[in-house]
Amino acid sequence: MKKSRRNFIKQSGLAAGFTLAGGVAVKNYAFGNNINDPEYSQRISDIQKKHTQSFNMSGFVAPIIPIVRVGLIGLGQRGPAHLKVISTIEDVKIRALCDLRPEKVVEANKLLKNSDHNPELYSGGEDEWKKLCEQKDLDLIIVTTPWYMHAKIAIYAMQQGKHVAIEAPAAATVEEAWQLVKTAEQTRKHCMMLENTSYMDFQLLTLNMARHGFFGEVVHGDCAYNTSKMNNNFNKNLYWNMWWLRQYGSREGNIYPTHGLGPVAQIMNINRGDRFDFLVSVESKDFMMKAKAEELAKKDSSFKEFAKMNYRGNMNVTIIKTVKGSTIMLQHDATPPSPHSMIHGVYGTKGAALMDSPEPRISTGNHKWTSKNEFEKIADKYTHEITKKFRTTAKESGHGEKII
Ligand SMILES: NC(=O)c1ccc[n+]([C@@H]2O[C@H](COP(=O)([O-])OP(=O)(O)OC[C@H]3O[C@@H](n4cnc5c(N)ncnc54)[C@H](O)[C@@H]3O)[C@@H](O)[C@H]2O)c1
Repeated sequence: MKKSRRNFIKQSGLAAGFTLAGGVAVKNYAFGNNINDPEYSQRISDIQKKHTQSFNMSGFVAPIIPIVRVGLIGLGQRGPAHLKVISTIEDVKIRALCDLRPEKVVEANKLLKNSDHNPELYSGGEDEWKKLCEQKDLDLIIVTTPWYMHAKIAIYAMQQGKHVAIEAPAAATVEEAWQLVKTAEQTRKHCMMLENTSYMDFQLLTLNMARHGFFGEVVHGDCAYNTSKMNNNFNKNLYWNMWWLRQYGSREGNIYPTHGLGPVAQIMNINRGDRFDFLVSVESKDFMMKAKAEELAKKDSSFKEFAKMNYRGNMNVTIIKTVKGSTIMLQHDATPPSPHSMIHGVYGTKGAALMDSPEPRISTGNHKWTSKNEFEKIADKYTHEITKKFRTTAKESGHGEKII
């Protein structure tokens, strides 16, 4: 059965996911700073000083589009996952598909067999995505290429009059993030980052609790995306051109911050009343990636180029202060042999909530975590409309009820 697009947005009352940073001073290296660029902090500071807001996109509502005509760029793993879900939504037509690799376009198009979607197909060249952006009969472009390409594609798409939804993270540098802000303001096109962790059960529950004043003033947020991608990153046949490993081998700082930060930023009303002021980011040395690359290079010469690289440290810890005085601790580690862990903690003047996977916890302010029974009562009361509506759909989509 087709899912209704408009009713879902009305019922949820949640217009957008995580929005772009609006004024963050880079005090140290973080968010994918290129190691070979010592002037980075100065350049960001100059860009921020120069930016004059031409329009306020916060809360922007675009004119209604009766049938949303969609194009997707990047059809590796994530693109087809989105394609499967959105092709089942009513009033949506998939009108264009693009990937550098022709076989990926053919495979994705097969998913639409026996449907009335009928997309134009683009492939075979580095810049074919530009032709997709120029296609006249498109309203929305979903960008699911490697993240260091997201901003340039999204900017061009908006300039061609299209709304964009970009996989996480939306940009590779703070500079690019500002270019996205500027282009969205100039073109008045939506530029939404698809930060799916903002829609996980506990993250939506705590957002709803925060909006109802459960936590009082939010003093501090803890967040993390700590998960082992060692096997994936060293797999020659998983990510196109082993692009993830190349990013770890050429950058420093938290190169994947938004799964942890997105939900906390929503709860703290970042760019909707508060904003990031400054951050300090520190990381461990790399204990694992170079060693693994060297070990593999002894048996397989195609790993020799990776053995020469110096990798980002395993654990990156970033502390952020907001203008209104709250703090955030953000972690990212993609190498540990420990189980997948997403920390999501909200600490307020009246209450707190914490999930350090797998068990979520809530405190009503009496210095104790609630019992399981009491937790369930509170969770029943505050379960977000999105969770109620989409729990079943999320299960069916294959990404699991818990999303990640
Ligand atoms: N939100 C989430 O939970 C989540 C999960 C996984 C990945 N992601 C994000 O999704 C994005 C894609 O990740 P993935 O795992 O699908 O990677 P992938 O390597 O499987 O797919 C990327 C695709 O982009 C294509 N591509 C490369 N250059 C291109 C070009 N110039 N023009 C057109 N296509 C091009 C590649 O051929 C490949 O098919 C990344 O930014 C990643 O961070 C998000």
